[in-house]
Amino acid sequence: MVELKTPGEIEAMAAAGAVVARALAATQDAARPGVRLTELDQLAREVLREAGASSPFLGYQPSFAHSPYPGVLCLSVNDAVLHGIPDDYQLRDGDLLSVDCGATLDGWTGDAAISFCVGHTSAADARLLERTEAALRAGIAAAQPGARLGDISAAIGRVAREAGYGLHTDFGGHGVGRTMHESPAVPNDGRPGRGMRLEPGLTLAIEPWFVAGGRDAYRIDSDGWTIRSSDGSRGAHFEHTVAITGEGPQVLTVE
Ligand code: CO
Repeated sequence: MVELKTPGEIEAMAAAGAVVARALAATQDAARPGVRLTELDQLAREVLREAGASSPFLGYQPSFAHSPYPGVLCLSVNDAVLHGIPDDYQLRDGDLLSVDCGATLDGWTGDAAISFCVGHTSAADARLLERTEAALRAGIAAAQPGARLGDISAAIGRVAREAGYGLHTDFGGHGVGRTMHESPAVPNDGRPGRGMRLEPGLTLAIEPWFVAGGRDAYRIDSDGWTIRSSDGSRGAHFEHTVAITGEGPQVLTVE
């Protein structure tokens, strides 16, 4: 069942989204060489606590995981792209860090992710980051009332293929609202003109993740969470929570 939200509910989701945006900005600010991933997770916990928000990540245990998620951030370094668990790893200059964060405020959830390099950014990483963020923009631009779900998926997949990056339709976007994961699934590739019609009130997390090596395969660490490229190449992940309104897409995970 897909639940459409009222304008008032979308406003409440934007308040949760603003907390997510604040936590991501604080994390990026603090992510310097020598900083431990656990310190970044602690910082995000404080941002959520000060805002009176809780974490939809902490303790989350979907069917694919064999243990509850232990952090409020996913921190994925270099060839890790999704669901990296914050541990005592110390960031190094040139590391590519993907940060995924959620917040629940007054019963409504926002979910967003950014990727960036710590310190120096290589030309190859700059291109990967730019193209993955461009795919998020293209997905959002396709999230128009009257369009179809497949239009979002196709817009994302096209950017990956044109850039020659690896693309996976597992762990794509999703409905979001009262909980972090709702219907519908928003795969990161698909056919335009197919799938459910996008109506005002539909709220989606759109989240492309690409790996630089062109191979469409990934592996999961023995921790049951961390998702890495199968070829050791670096990956990037960008995500926003977006509402479809009568006037077009509205990004909710902004300050
Ligand atoms: Co998400």
